[in-house]
Amino acid sequence: MKGIILAGGSGTRLSPSTDSINKHLLAVYDKPMIYYPLSVLMLAGIKEIMIISTPEDQPRFTTLLGDGSALGISLHYKVQSNPDGIPEALTIAEDFIGKEHIALILGDNIFFGQGFTMLLRNAMKHHRHATIFGCRVKDPRRFGVVEFNQQQKAISIEEKPLQPKSDFAVTGLYIYDHRAVQLAKNLQPSKRGELEITDLNRLYLQQGRLDVQLLGRGFAWMDAGTHDALFEAAEFVKITQQRQGFKIACLEEIAYYLGYISRDVLINKGKEMHKNDYGAYLLDIAHRKHTNPYWDEMVTHSILGLVK
Ligand code: G1P
Repeated sequence: MKGIILAGGSGTRLSPSTDSINKHLLAVYDKPMIYYPLSVLMLAGIKEIMIISTPEDQPRFTTLLGDGSALGISLHYKVQSNPDGIPEALTIAEDFIGKEHIALILGDNIFFGQGFTMLLRNAMKHHRHATIFGCRVKDPRRFGVVEFNQQQKAISIEEKPLQPKSDFAVTGLYIYDHRAVQLAKNLQPSKRGELEITDLNRLYLQQGRLDVQLLGRGFAWMDAGTHDALFEAAEFVKITQQRQGFKIACLEEIAYYLGYISRDVLINKGKEMHKNDYGAYLLDIAHRKHTNPYWDEMVTHSILGLVK
């Protein structure tokens, strides 16, 4: 399976903060927004990832993340010249996708919760054609909304309905087979002038090929696309991190625990940033692993949420 992060768009909802920089490079508390969706794909075990951004911002993403080798993954870059909608990511990445299955995640979506890694890996294992993730929200009118019958089978899906048929929003994480590329090519723009991912999902639904995985109340799902949402997401990250002492979406930590980078690489990165909290955290991880004999078990079970 390959991964795509869509980090394009004009970010008008966050203007003027985004007048000179891509939304996904803004900080969510202590790290750039794109770290969060990238951490999701890494935790899912995906190592080949394409980042799609704007022509102006692509060099900034390359400066930040390079070819991914520092994280033991492989990053590719493409541009979306105009904000024409989420499904366009699939056509832009057509050659990259080839015949593989693909996990597409929106660059402003943040997922956090005990067991999320296992849920994700299970969803990938049982994935057939299209899998989306639903999460109960207070105001579903802001999102794609999925309706279920009594057998908890999805029966309808609508984009930002004025009268939502359920409280379940469709999150910005989607898993598709490679057919999604052709289906995306045939979509027509909606009233807001964009291709809608909900229209693609509806095609899979009509063919009986859409699976919906629900995220329970223990999960936090946030999109950081407005000033309030960005602020709330930052507060959530700050409070959770300060309480637990673990960082959310620390890419080097994930790469280290997954065995993609060595302890030496982790230590060097920590030393490079030793004057800030992020660097100190990396050094602390390297130290803990070395001194605590139970750390490996704890990391796999409790921290990464993986069952051996
Ligand atoms: C997009 C999708 C919507 C989905 C949301 C998740 O909305 O169109 O279906 O629920 O992402 O973040 P947008 O960010 O374009 O408003």
